[in-house]
Amino acid sequence: MLEAISRYGARIISNTEQTIAACRGRGELIQGPQISEFERAFEKFHGCGRAISASYGRMAFFYLLKAFDFPPGSEIVFPALTFWVVPELAKVSGLKIVFADVDPATYTLDPASLERVITDRTRAVVPTHLYGLSCDMDKILSIAARHRLAVIEDCAHALGATYRGRLVGTLGDASFFSFQTLKPLNTYGGGMALIHDPAIADRVAGFVSAEKWPDEKRVLGRLGSGRWQRRMIRPGVFTYTAFPILWAASWFMARPDVYLWEKIRPLSPLPDSYIERYSNVQAAIGLAGLSRLADWNSATQAHARVMNEALQGLVGVQAPIVPPEQTHAYYQYCVYGPDRDDILRRCIKRGVDVEILHVDVCSQLALFGDAQGKMPGAERAADAFQVPVYESLTDEQVHRVSDVVRDVLVKKQEVSRV
Ligand SMILES: Cc1ncc(COP(=O)(O)O)c(C=O)c1O
Repeated sequence: MLEAISRYGARIISNTEQTIAACRGRGELIQGPQISEFERAFEKFHGCGRAISASYGRMAFFYLLKAFDFPPGSEIVFPALTFWVVPELAKVSGLKIVFADVDPATYTLDPASLERVITDRTRAVVPTHLYGLSCDMDKILSIAARHRLAVIEDCAHALGATYRGRLVGTLGDASFFSFQTLKPLNTYGGGMALIHDPAIADRVAGFVSAEKWPDEKRVLGRLGSGRWQRRMIRPGVFTYTAFPILWAASWFMARPDVYLWEKIRPLSPLPDSYIERYSNVQAAIGLAGLSRLADWNSATQAHARVMNEALQGLVGVQAPIVPPEQTHAYYQYCVYGPDRDDILRRCIKRGVDVEILHVDVCSQLALFGDAQGKMPGAERAADAFQVPVYESLTDEQVHRVSDVVRDVLVKKQEVSRV
């Protein structure tokens, strides 16, 4: 059987197990000096701000909202295409959610749409650098300055991506990052806030330090499920485990993968696992990973170039657009093509697991009640499919992915010409 290639790849430091064992040996699995070392290294990497770690990226955002202390009922604008948890946590914080549309060419917040939804109650905007590409920050920052809005960048997908020579996360008032297993920096969960105003930073630090430390069992459980997840997506294992299920489901256009996603639900009261601190062992893994980030991002970008070449010249097919003076981190490589679901099925049948809609069209979710509405850009962006270009693919695997995807698209063009 041909080896199947998973849609996901985790970035792993080679000495993960030794790092865990060393922290354990020193009795520093939960508390220890690596937490502040990682935070200082994160600040140094970005060249500004104060970095404060948290149990999740979403909780870094939650503490930021608490620290900004917007009046209850203030409006906060999100792109309609984002991970549902982020606006939900703003709702939990007492804010009113407003969605603006995205530009389907870049999948990121459309500044013109942002401007249209601002009212005299709007206090903040959350530009999400979706899939690894920065939003159009000059325009967003100038709108925000005109309306006196705080700008909180969602960098969960885009650590290391740049906009006009500056790293994302350094452009607004504050930003947050995710270290979940499949993210650009994997510490098997966790997140970071990066803040420029010292008073806001002090408040975030106060909220974080008031939380309890996680117990060892929970942290070891997280490391264990990360280990399991990274094994399951290795081609040699994936081919014989999850892939046959996806392959069988593709004949019926069923989506068994949706059962792996976090169930969309209200998050009030906050789940217990959210309200605790980030652990030392995860920070130790993050420190080692941060020094590899540039290489990981370059490898992913090289894979994206292979895909770009493979898709060149195909009519009706759109590879990711990278505006001038930006670098893309390619957390997801999104492609528009004719008849997405059929493309998906054909790729899976040939051993390449492609994905659709990695995040949510939040403006269509009942969870957001009044904020629901038509967002043509986000709805169009949901038609894209996502091709694996992650760092851990070998050259041979990347070429196989690009050959299969190109061949499927060429065949579809031939059929449509007949
Ligand atoms: C766009 C976006 N923002 C924020 C987050 C939240 O990150 P975390 O899972 O670390 O809370 C995610 C997680 O997948 C995400 O996709």
